[in-house]
Amino acid sequence: MQIEKAKRLSGIGEYYFSQKLREIEQLNQQGKNIINLGIGSPDLPPHPSVIEVLRAEAAKPNTHAYQSYKGSPIFRNAIAEWYQKWYQVDLNPDTEILPLLGSKEGIMHICMTYLNEGDQALIPNPGYPTYTSAVKLAGGTPVAFELKEENNWEPDFELLNKMDLSKVKLMWVNYPQMPTGRMPSDDLFNKLVAFGLKHNILICHDNPYSFVLNDHPMSLLKVPRAKDVVIELNSLSKSQNMAGWRVGMICGSKDKIDDILTFKSNMDSGMFLPIQLAAAKALSLEKEWYTGINEIYFERRKKVFELLDQLNCTYSKDQVGMFVWAKIPSTSKDGYELSDNVLYESNIFITPGGIFGSAGNNYVRVSLCGAVEKFVEAIKRINH
Ligand SMILES: Cc1ncc(COP(=O)(O)O)c(C=O)c1O
Repeated sequence: MQIEKAKRLSGIGEYYFSQKLREIEQLNQQGKNIINLGIGSPDLPPHPSVIEVLRAEAAKPNTHAYQSYKGSPIFRNAIAEWYQKWYQVDLNPDTEILPLLGSKEGIMHICMTYLNEGDQALIPNPGYPTYTSAVKLAGGTPVAFELKEENNWEPDFELLNKMDLSKVKLMWVNYPQMPTGRMPSDDLFNKLVAFGLKHNILICHDNPYSFVLNDHPMSLLKVPRAKDVVIELNSLSKSQNMAGWRVGMICGSKDKIDDILTFKSNMDSGMFLPIQLAAAKALSLEKEWYTGINEIYFERRKKVFELLDQLNCTYSKDQVGMFVWAKIPSTSKDGYELSDNVLYESNIFITPGGIFGSAGNNYVRVSLCGAVEKFVEAIKRINH
C-alpha cells in the first residue's frame, strides 16, 4: 500500500549529508577506507567533569522523570551566567532563555512559531541548508540574499532595502558565518538590528561557532535594542564537544520565548535532567577549556591549509569556526566536481560549497573534526 507523502515534503530532499554518508558507507564496504572531512561533528570528548556530572546524576533514582518544558532553573541560570561572562549580555534566566534539544530543532520551532503560508523569510546564500528546509516545512517561502566574498560575506543592505520586504517576517543570519568562516565586521551587528527595526523583521541569529578558533565571542543580543527584534540560537554541540547530546538554547525577550514555547511544548517533553545538569557544568568551564580545544584546531587547520594548497585551492587565513572554506582552482568546473574527484581518486570526502547555496558553487568546505594524523594521511593520498 502506498501512502502519499504530505505536500509540505515536496521540494524537500533528504539532507545532503544523510545521503552522502550512505554512499561513503558503501565505498567503505568495498574496502576504500574513506577519510571523511565533511561534517562538523567534534571528535573530541567533553570535559571529564561534564561526563562525571552526567554519570553521577544518571545514577540517582530521582532524575528520570519528565522535565519542565522550560528546562531546569539550574541550566537556565548557567546559560544566563555564560551569556553575561562571555558576551556581556544580560538575560533573565526565568523568562529570556529556552533550552533546546539542539539548535537545529530550534530553527524549526522558530519557523513554525512565526510563519504562515505565504510569509517570507530571508535566507543567506551561502548558508546552513536547514534554514531553507525549515522555512519550507513551516509553509513559508525562503527568499535568498547573496553573500559575496568581496563584501566580507555580509548582507548587502543597500540591495535588501530596495527589495519588496512587505511579506518578510524573519531573516536568518549566522556570524561567525558557516560555511565561509567569516567574523562579522565591526558594524555588521548594529546594521542588522537597525534593519530589523526599520522593516519589522525578526532577526534570527544562529551562533554555534562563536568560540571556535576565536578569542572574541560575540552575541547579536549585545547591540542596544536588540531584544526588540533579535532572537539568538546557541549550542553546546561545537564549543563544548557535545554534538550528540543535543543541547542548545534560544535567547530573546520574554514575549518571543513565550511564543516559541507555545509551539515547542507541544513537540517535546523536555530534556533529560542529568544532561541539563552536565550542560550547566560545561558552560561553567573557564577560558582554559576553550584555549585547549582551539590549540588543537589551530594545528589541524595548518594541515588543512596544506591539503588545500595541494588541491590548488585558495582561502583566507583569518577565518574562524570548525571548517576551512576555500575557492576551487579554475581547472575544476565547480565544488561538486572537485569533491567527487577527490572522493573517487583519493578516497577523501570534502564538502562541495554548492550545498550551501549557489553562491558556494566555486568553493569547498573542509572540516577540522579529525586527528592531525588523518589530515597528514589525506595530504599523502592527494600527493600520490
Ligand atoms: C550554522 C549551524 N547552525 C546550527 C547547527 C546545528 O547545531 P546543533 O547541533 O546545535 O543542532 C549547525 C550544525 O552543523 C550549524 O552549522
